[in-house]
Amino acid sequence: MALILGLESSCDDTSAALVTSDRRILAQAVVGQNQAHQPYGGVVPEIAARAHVEILPALVEQVLGEAKVAVADVDAVAATAGPGLIGGVMVALLAGKGLALATGKPLIAVNHLEGHALSPRLVDPDLGFPYLLLLVSGGHCQLLEVRGVGDYRRLATTIDDAAGEAFDKAAKLLGLPYPGGPAIEELAKNGDPAAVPLPRPLVGSGEPHFSFAGLKSAVQRAVASGSYSPEDIAASFQQAVVDCLVDRTHLALGSTDAPALVVAGGVAANKAIRSALAELAESEGRGFSVPPAWLCTDNAAMIAWAGVERFTQGLTDELDVPARARWPLDESAEKVRGAGVKA
Ligand code: KG4
Ligand code: ZN
Repeated sequence: MALILGLESSCDDTSAALVTSDRRILAQAVVGQNQAHQPYGGVVPEIAARAHVEILPALVEQVLGEAKVAVADVDAVAATAGPGLIGGVMVALLAGKGLALATGKPLIAVNHLEGHALSPRLVDPDLGFPYLLLLVSGGHCQLLEVRGVGDYRRLATTIDDAAGEAFDKAAKLLGLPYPGGPAIEELAKNGDPAAVPLPRPLVGSGEPHFSFAGLKSAVQRAVASGSYSPEDIAASFQQAVVDCLVDRTHLALGSTDAPALVVAGGVAANKAIRSALAELAESEGRGFSVPPAWLCTDNAAMIAWAGVERFTQGLTDELDVPARARWPLDESAEKVRGAGVKA
């Protein structure tokens, strides 16, 4: 049994967690910074980095206290080393290096995207490799064949905005607070998803890539027209995103015989998206797995779990490992125009 301390600070959530190789989360603490960034309608990197510096040490003490373990009891320290806002990434990575140095335990530099990608296996012991992963977060919208730890084949990515970014931009246009995803989901409950005619960019195209910029512009026009209620715009926007994700994922399923479809990343917290993809998996005869909502948005439990997966394979890192703003899961994948680099 291995015990891993996970640290995360790549965007606007500061988090520490203790996770065991037998899938027990002994403790987890997450502090979001939504309020600090809300006046700006998006994450301000400088504010985020400073907040991580102030918050992270107390969270480490908190999880160790809650789990009643000493830092010397951990088998390794796993810290996000990218991709993300570089000032923030450096906070958890350097904290991880300091703890590894002080305790003499190995450091595991975790790719934040691998954290999301492997997170379903923390709560679903039956989920084996390979699986088709729809990774939908604030900075990424990708379809990946997950073949094993550190072994990814990218089938598709976004040519402009990420899915979460589209939610955040649409929310801003509707005057909703940041982050936009939960706010739109709430408003959409009282709206008609068919009320506003909105485009489904790239739906039906031969490659499973994504595009959301045109959808955002259409939302802008719908808001400006004054002809629709915010509820109807929110519901119609959410439906358009659902339709895009389902169509693109359906196409990608045709090029992999992976027995399961998995959805992860912050946008996977959305109930309409979860249920539409569950239906797709069922109709295609594939298994389906999605982590609970708290494990979809950024957290250190998924980083600790990716640490467990790497540690059990003997994959640890030297203390001079760099922080990386950009760090694709499939390094061999071709760059697609406009693809985001955030986490
Ligand atoms: O994975 P995450 O916490 O951070 C990144 O690594 O980006 O994802 C954050 C993104 C934000 O864009 C947020 O609006 C979106 O996930 N999100 C949602 C929901 N909850 C969070 N999008 C749609 N519906 C939700 N319920
Ligand atoms: Zn993330």
